[in-house]
Amino acid sequence: MSKSNISKLSRLGLIKVILNRLSNIGKGSDKETKDLYDYTPNKLAKQLHPTVQHLKVVEIEEFSKDMKSFYLAPNIKKGTQSLAWFSAGQYLSIGVDINGKVFKRPYSIASSPADTLSGYYMLTIKRVEGGIVSQYVLDNWKVGTEFDASAPLGDFSYEPLRDAKTVIGIAGGSGITPFRSLAKAIYEGDEPCSLVLLYGSRTYADAVFSDDIEKMAKDCDKIKLVNVLSNEEKEGCESGFITADLIKKYAPEGDYSIFMCGPQAMYNFADKEIEKLKIRRKFVRHELFGEFFHPEKNADYKGNIDEKFHLTVTIAGVTTTIPCDANTSLLRAMEAAGLNPPSDCRSGRCGWCHSKLLSGDVYIPASVDGRRLADKEFGYIHPCCTFPLSDLAIDVPPMPKEIEKKKEDAAK
Ligand code: FES
Repeated sequence: MSKSNISKLSRLGLIKVILNRLSNIGKGSDKETKDLYDYTPNKLAKQLHPTVQHLKVVEIEEFSKDMKSFYLAPNIKKGTQSLAWFSAGQYLSIGVDINGKVFKRPYSIASSPADTLSGYYMLTIKRVEGGIVSQYVLDNWKVGTEFDASAPLGDFSYEPLRDAKTVIGIAGGSGITPFRSLAKAIYEGDEPCSLVLLYGSRTYADAVFSDDIEKMAKDCDKIKLVNVLSNEEKEGCESGFITADLIKKYAPEGDYSIFMCGPQAMYNFADKEIEKLKIRRKFVRHELFGEFFHPEKNADYKGNIDEKFHLTVTIAGVTTTIPCDANTSLLRAMEAAGLNPPSDCRSGRCGWCHSKLLSGDVYIPASVDGRRLADKEFGYIHPCCTFPLSDLAIDVPPMPKEIEKKKEDAAK
């Protein structure tokens, strides 16, 4: 280093920092680390973002036989010591073993991040007509039921660098759950935004968590709840649907973000209303949990929805051929065949199910095609929102859990 550079560093007071750093490097071990997980930052990262969380049901709150809240604690016996932290609005992908086949589904966490420190997550699950997992969970889960879940996932949470200071929440049905979490986080002082929640229900009796959020709103001027009832007139509630005019009525002056979570029919209606408001695209976000995409309802679908095909799947090096109907996503076909494919969001966004299309033609609804340009160019698909138009062959990468297991087995 030249004399002038040394004198510049000295003037900036950096010489001491550099000498300290060199000294610390000199004190480091010269032995190769056996396992990357031995590094303290990696141990912490694994604790915050575990590959899997072993959980058990510790309490159940029943709203009706079609909707229940499940309180979940770490299953210490199975090796999960504490719950991973999350941001209000994130979800868990839970794995449910039904007669030896594992089905995964994403559910938004309805408890607040601070509740995690008290040792629990709460998931509120509503029965979905024709839904395999919701039916099974509501009819079979009891206190003591054990299962595995992902770490908290998803980006449906408040981000001060991107979002406006006020969030207009538009919720419908069980789409209230991430907003219940956000309201509680604001109430507990863990989120810097305000929330105006427009909550659409048929009747007030259907508006689960309404009383709970109203109580928080009474003590916290950063939360406002507006119940919007389509089939009932009730004092203090709005009647009808969530229109552009209704949003304007409750929106603040200036910028606001709109977060939406609810059924597809609500998005179809609300999206058109929001377009009238001409707000910037970055301020509008949906939570998407695709389960039933109905490809035939899209104008660009050219297939025959009643056709039946074969799907040849290579997963973790094993090749199997299974049936796959035109109206079934490749992911659902693999789950029904007990292949245990990877998935998290089930809506084309997380990339967890990312697989290579080896042969055949597929249909991917544009509204859920979250692939990067390179994926499209090199023939990768997301089986969670891909439908067959012919017999197909795909290659599904093994799940990290399986990679980890192989690593463990090799180390034995
Ligand atoms: S499960 Fe997330 S993209 Fe398919």
